[in-house]
Amino acid sequence: MAREQVRKPMMAANWKMNKLADEAEEYVVRLLPQISNVEGVDVAIFAPFTCLGRVASMTRDTAVIAGAQNFYYEDSGAFTGEVSAPMLKDVGAGAVIVGHSERREIFGETDEMVARKTARAISAGLLPIVCVGETKEERDAGEMWDKCSGQVQSVFEELDNVNGDDIVFAYEPIWAIGTGDTASPEDSQDAIGKIRALLKELRGEQFASQVRILYGGSIKRDNIGEIMAQKDVDGGLAGGASLDPVSFAGLVNAASSS
Ligand code: PGA
Repeated sequence: MAREQVRKPMMAANWKMNKLADEAEEYVVRLLPQISNVEGVDVAIFAPFTCLGRVASMTRDTAVIAGAQNFYYEDSGAFTGEVSAPMLKDVGAGAVIVGHSERREIFGETDEMVARKTARAISAGLLPIVCVGETKEERDAGEMWDKCSGQVQSVFEELDNVNGDDIVFAYEPIWAIGTGDTASPEDSQDAIGKIRALLKELRGEQFASQVRILYGGSIKRDNIGEIMAQKDVDGGLAGGASLDPVSFAGLVNAASSS
């Protein structure tokens, strides 16, 4: 079944810990003309803190949203090394990735921290892209849904009145991230369809039909079309394939024609 058209697709670049400021600038200069005619898709670039301000100012009058890859939920104070939501707003960010599996697995972020960050992002006017997903061992043990549903549910412990368009989820199976081993379109739809059904149970029909749920994990130009053709998949969060502006522009174009 074709993707439902009620939600605007989104294609997001997660640069992770890559690109010096000059490289980021060159990337944006090369990307913008390649996507200037693209309509009907939200484009976001999640840049490292050190070049986020530059990306934000270069994209200010364009359709591209500049975002951060992380932040801390307190606004200021003795939190050495951390960056707050007001600081992100200050440099022009409009969105932030929350709970990426690399943050959860390498830096020990808990579901509770992810929930607090999500709530603070929304109250600050930043669009959170909340990542969930299972490891290979969890999938092999038949625990994909236990893991993902638990991660989704815990996000709502800190949220009261939110609309479906205040938040974006990304299903990112950990075994597919950076491995070249993309989830099949059917597996993507299976997980994302279940997440949408859970959101309907938790927040009702309207919320569930508005909220965008992306797929992430070894997205490439040659697999994004069939993944985005799935009914519940609203776009992608791309790592490796987003590092080159030509490659990312290809994903954006594919998303707009999905
Ligand atoms: P990948 O990363 O596209 O390189 O697999 C995706 C992500 O981690 O967001």
